[in-house]
Amino acid sequence: MSPKVVLAYSGGLDTSVAIAWLSERGWDVVAVAVDVGQPGDLNSAVARAESLGAVEARLVQARHEFVEDYVLPALKMNALYQGRYPLVSALSRPLISKVLVDVANDVDAAAVAHGCTGKGNDQVRFEVSLGALAPDLDVLAPVRDWGMNRAETIAFAAARSLPIETTKSSPYSIDENAWGRSIECGVLEDPWVAPPDDVFALTAAPQDAPEPRDVVVSFDGGVPVAVDGETLAPANAIDAVGKLAGSYGIGRIDMVEDRLVGIKSREVYECPAGIALIAAHQDLEGITLDRDLAKEKRRLSSLWSEVVYDGLWFSPLRDAIDAFAATSQARVTGDVKLRLSAGGCLPVGRRSPYSLYSETLATYDDGDTFAHEDAAGFTRLWGLPAKTWARGS
Ligand code: ARG
Repeated sequence: MSPKVVLAYSGGLDTSVAIAWLSERGWDVVAVAVDVGQPGDLNSAVARAESLGAVEARLVQARHEFVEDYVLPALKMNALYQGRYPLVSALSRPLISKVLVDVANDVDAAAVAHGCTGKGNDQVRFEVSLGALAPDLDVLAPVRDWGMNRAETIAFAAARSLPIETTKSSPYSIDENAWGRSIECGVLEDPWVAPPDDVFALTAAPQDAPEPRDVVVSFDGGVPVAVDGETLAPANAIDAVGKLAGSYGIGRIDMVEDRLVGIKSREVYECPAGIALIAAHQDLEGITLDRDLAKEKRRLSSLWSEVVYDGLWFSPLRDAIDAFAATSQARVTGDVKLRLSAGGCLPVGRRSPYSLYSETLATYDDGDTFAHEDAAGFTRLWGLPAKTWARGS
């Protein structure tokens, strides 16, 4: 009996060829497609896996878990790698790793496999996550090992008449899930070339945006729970905000990013829901978090983003920051009014039952309750070190 390997299978060229490649090397391949909210017909991809040579193919529905356990923690932390990238792909890898380990246990596999190349972050995320979840399980990386370029991979498939879906062939490398879309390769490899219109699928061109409008997003404990007064499950709130923001061209990100493996790479992302929701969530924190808590949370936000980007989802550090995040979100409940316009969104109103904003303290009009007499002494003491320093004694 051949040993079994559980392969993370997307239905694309590389992981399709990987089924045949691993089979030819004596493995019984169990292909697993994980639904994390990407579009496309995963059922037919799974059906195709067996004709590619898999001994078994499964579709695992993980969209709900992805949103609840990966996307919402990212939103609670306002997570943006290098201040811009909402971690779309970085969030799905640990979950896909978890599914691979579950299936590997279920079918008593000797190894698991992913379809990443050697140049990206995703290989690191898979292998570090798999190592954390199942330290003794072998991990294979056929695409990194086989040394074929794209044309050679297509030729490999053609020589064996593998049923590869060529209609989907795109000059770009695309990864998509419920939080957004990552687009790489093709003309985008020249960082001077503006992204052609055909790279975008979730966002309209900003010049085609409708008239500006306001949308009210409601949060409960840092989680989006309603849009314009309509109560929605978080996953549906994310979809609704994403569709609306996408129609304004909000959430397009074009950047040169620093990969963990040392390469600078030009990346285009579409994350309409993420960009709009982070703007709203961050704004609500402005009235519900204490100043010192907010300051520390901003610092941890960039740390959390780096930890997750760098593949350390399953780490004691990420767990510890998430414990901080959970505590911090207890009062992040309320509404934010976002003004959507071509290519951008701005919070223009916020309210909360836990608001720390006090109009009687802030006002310059009648009804002021601020203790002005305290201000003079406070200011003298606050400035005392500066005066002492200036006098040199
Ligand atoms: N650079 C991004 C990241 O490391 C996106 C990677 C997405 N992968 C892809 N095949 N397009 O998270």
